[in-house]
Parts: sequence; structure tokens; C-alpha cells
Amino acid sequence: MYRTHSNGELSASNIDQEVTLSGWVQKIRNKGFMIWVDLRDRYGITQLIFDEERTAKAVMEIASKLGREFVIQVHGKVIERESKNPNMVTGDIEILVSEVIILNQSLTPPFTIEDETDGGEDLRMKYRYLDIRRKPVRENLIFRHKVTMAVRNYLSEKGFVEVETPYLIKSTPEGARDFVVPSRMNEGQFYALPQSPQTFKQLLMVGGMDKYFQIVKCFRDEDLRADRQPEFTQIDCEMAFVEQEDILNTFEGLTRHLIKEIKNIELAEFPRMTYDDAMKRYGNDKPDIRFGMEFGELNAVAQHKEFNVFNQAELVVGIAVPGGNSYTRKEIDKLIDWVRRPQVGALGMVYSRCNDDGSYKSSVDKFYDQDDLAKWAEVTGAQKGDLICVLSGDKNKVRAQLSALRMELAERLGLRKADEFAPLWVIDFPLLEWDEDSKRYHAMHHPFTSPKPGQLELLETKPGEVKANAYDLVLNGNEIGGGSIRIHDKKTQAMMFDYLGFTPEEAKAQFGFLMDAFQYGAPPHGGIAFGLDRLTAILGGQETIRDFIAFPKNNAGRDVMIDAPAPIDKAQLKELKLKLDL
Ligand code: AMO
Repeated sequence: MYRTHSNGELSASNIDQEVTLSGWVQKIRNKGFMIWVDLRDRYGITQLIFDEERTAKAVMEIASKLGREFVIQVHGKVIERESKNPNMVTGDIEILVSEVIILNQSLTPPFTIEDETDGGEDLRMKYRYLDIRRKPVRENLIFRHKVTMAVRNYLSEKGFVEVETPYLIKSTPEGARDFVVPSRMNEGQFYALPQSPQTFKQLLMVGGMDKYFQIVKCFRDEDLRADRQPEFTQIDCEMAFVEQEDILNTFEGLTRHLIKEIKNIELAEFPRMTYDDAMKRYGNDKPDIRFGMEFGELNAVAQHKEFNVFNQAELVVGIAVPGGNSYTRKEIDKLIDWVRRPQVGALGMVYSRCNDDGSYKSSVDKFYDQDDLAKWAEVTGAQKGDLICVLSGDKNKVRAQLSALRMELAERLGLRKADEFAPLWVIDFPLLEWDEDSKRYHAMHHPFTSPKPGQLELLETKPGEVKANAYDLVLNGNEIGGGSIRIHDKKTQAMMFDYLGFTPEEAKAQFGFLMDAFQYGAPPHGGIAFGLDRLTAILGGQETIRDFIAFPKNNAGRDVMIDAPAPIDKAQLKELKLKLDL
């Protein structure tokens, strides 16, 4: 037997027991006549003691040869520790070792296996298996497991059936590029890896499965960020005979259950906001509503004066920064530099200080008097001691810029508290989105999303205004889930493809299977998919999903541990009949 106990469980109540433990050598303190070793496993750390007076010479000799990360097995007696450590479960005891076996040796690890390590991100990724030995990484993976189990149990209890769908499929349009897999048996043909199981879950509804879910890998070839990986996991769900309200209630229930189960926080009913409102009030379709700093549109009070920058702008909009009047001139200049960085892209920023005596001091005093500035304060909700920051320009651009500034300032002001949870349903998304590159409309969610009742007629005249039965669930400024009520009749689906620029032949070639299925009694249906990695990271109080994935890819989409992607050899290319010289 390798072990009678784990390294995280022995305490004073075990004193005098003979035990066997196995694990990794975390730390060694060698005084010659006495050697202490910290033995680690998944469950914790137990201190071992080898003592010249009480331990056999042969055992002392082996102990003196141990190195960090050696895997050992020891047998010994639980004794009371002289210097106790009240911060550890095992802090009252140590093991007086009578036998030791080296199960495996280890090279010196390239970074310290401690909570605070000296290893940089790249090194830790290359040796991810060592990184996983560190408590913070291990705890994140265990945390993810808990979230996953809570989701599975909840949905299963509610009558959802987990069904696996294939990975080798045809393109699913979720807005990214596909990863493709060449087929050896079908020369010149390729599978695509699913960007989501969207079409399959709809086919399951046609198949009468009624309530489906799947915790499933999805693959998207897109630019990576802290909250995006090329392969990630969705909690993918679909229901038949439902309206939007049913979906929102069901998955609000799931989210509320998770937050109670995992964080022991009872959330009230989730607020809802239309997409248009979210854009107007926060400049963003995934607003963080843990804090205020709502947008105040200033066109009515700031235009038609002598200030041409504002007069020419489509939108003049500001936010009140709580306590921002304490910023020095230099700090404000730095803020202006910040909004002018190419990543944000504003041309400049106008500000107005709200002094404690009720007066204002703005960067455009030449054009605006105290009464004007008082109106700015009223519209942005600024109080004495605040700073009003104002941007102007093209409506869509300026909203994105001010939204970036709002998030940055909230971060600096400590308003984005990791232990606070502010969910929000964003509803009534536009059906279509204008794409500057291709100069045409694309489906904002995906082409299977249904327009709101009675809106289909607008498609020809005002396509940008057609609203969809589509919704996102936002948590603390992150989109953790999104879904829609689907089109379930062939005619409407064909119309949608036609509108999106597919010829009938293309639509048939790509999605004929779905439209065929719609002819055999497709029930009304809809669903949602949550990003499990994102949800877990946010519940864990963080926003970098990499930390909650066992073997993530880096920002260039590479797995630096196994060194993938990599070229394949000529024989394999030949077998696949692939020629790389285009
Ligand atoms: P959507 O594309 O909105 O919807 O994806 C659902 C959720 O998946 C997460 N997500 C990601 N997480 C990590 N890395 C990525 N690259 C990534 N891309 C998306 C987000 C997002 O909210 N089939 C539809 C769902 C439906 O209509 O039911 C879909 O995939 O949290």
C-alpha cells in the first residue's frame, strides 16, 4: 500500500499512530543530525522528521540524498511537533520516519513549486504539469470541477439530457473562422470542427429530445484575448416548445443556483436591459453594473455654443468620475493620453472639475459658463468632488471609447469588486450587424436566430432596425452566455439565408440538412450557451480563463508544452493528398 493517509489529513488526534504517506518533496531542511522534509500531495503538506537519535542510519542516509520534487514513500509514527503551525491542518504534528523509499527522482524544477512562484508565464506553460502541482492552479482546476458538477446535477434534475454531438462536422457559422481537418478517405474534402453544436442541438429538438444540454468543446479560429481561447468549453442548452421568457427563467435559475452553491450568495431577480439601452447608458452590450458612472448624453446642453469640436460631433457624452476632482492636472493629462492610445482611439477629452464649493472648472471655460457646466453635472449625475470626462465624435466610436474609459477608471477606483456579482440580461439584440469589410449585413448572433414577431417586414426597408429574439447573460461586464429563439420553418430560414447573401444553392449545400429537417415537424425551440471557462473564472474572482484551463494555449494559439501546431511529415501529407504550395 502506497499510503494510509493523504498529506492533508493527519492532526493531533492521530498522535502515536503508525502511518504510510506518499508524495512529492516540497522542501528540505538539513541540519545534519536532523532533517525535515515537507511532503506534498493534492491534499496538503505533512512535515517529516528524520532524527539521528531516533532514525536508523540507512534511512538518514537516504533522507540526506533527497531532492526537491522527488517522489517518496515513508512509513513512520505521528508525533507532536515542537513548533506548531496553526495555519495548517497538519500543523500540530510531524511524522518520525522509520522507513523511506524513493519512488522516483526528479530533476531540479525550472521554477519553484510554491503558491508564489518565480516562474514566468511562458516557463510555467511549458512545464504545465509542474505548474499544476502548485496550489493556486490545482485549486482552480478543482473549482472548475465543482462548477461543472453543479451544472450537470442541476440540469439533469430539471430533466435535461446530456447528448454528445460530433466534432468532425461541417462549418457552423458563429462568426469566427473554422479549424478544418482533412479527410483521408475523401480526397480533397475537409471536416470543420464545430464552433458550437448549434445545428445539432436544433436537430435534437426536431428529434423530440425536448431538453438538451452538453458540456462541450468548441473550436474557433479567432484572435485571442484574456477571455478567449481557440478551444473552449460551452454549457450548451436547447429546449423545445419554449418562448424567450421560458429560456430566461430556466437559465436564470441555473445561474442563481450556481452562485448560491459555489459562492453562497443569494441573488435577487436578474435585471433586464435592452441592447439599445445598454449602448446608450454604458456604451457597451455587456455593461458592468456593479458600479454607476452611467453615460450622460450632452448634445442638448453642450452643442450650439462656440465650441466647434462638440458642434460637429454626432454624440457628445460624459461620465462622472466619483472623487475625480482630486486628480492633479498631471493625472488628468495622463488620462487624456490614455484615451488617445490607438487601442482606445479618442482624439481628445474635455473635462470639468466639480469643486466642493459648488463651482466648476473645465478645460473649455472659454466656451462654457458655470450654468452650462451645472447642466453637464446634472446630466451625468456628477456630485461635488467629482470629475466629468467628456468625449465626442461618431456615435458608435465614441460610445466604445467612453466605455473603455469607464471600465479603466472603475478598475483604478477599485469599483470592480471580485466578490460582488451583478448579473444582467441584455435582450432585444439587433438581428443584423453591418460589416464594413464586406459592406453587407451579417447575422449578429447567428443565421438561425428568429426576428421578433412582426419585424420580418422591416428586413427590406430598415434591416439595421430589425430586432431579434436574442439575449445575452452578462456577469460583471463579461458575456457569459448568449442564445436565441430559433427559426423553425423552412421558408423563413431560406429567406434569412437569402438575405444574408447565400444563393439558394449555397444555402442548400451548407445547411440543406437543417432545412430538410424543418420540413418534418420541427417544434418551436430556442436555447442558450454559456462559456464555462468564463463563468468559472468570474465565479473564481478572475477574468483570465487560461488560469482555469488545465492545458491552455498561449496568445499565439500555441501549446508550448507539446509544441503544437507543428508541421506534418511528407508521408502524412501524401496520404491526405494535400499539396501545400498554393
Ligand atoms: P456564442 O457565440 O455567444 O453563442 O457563445 C456562447 C458563449 O461562449 C463563450 N465563448 C468563448 N469562451 C472562450 N473562448 C472563446 N473563444 C469563446 N467564444 C465564445 C462566451 C459566449 O457567451 N450557438 C450559440 C449559442 C446559442 O445560440 O444557443 C453560441 O455559440 O461566454
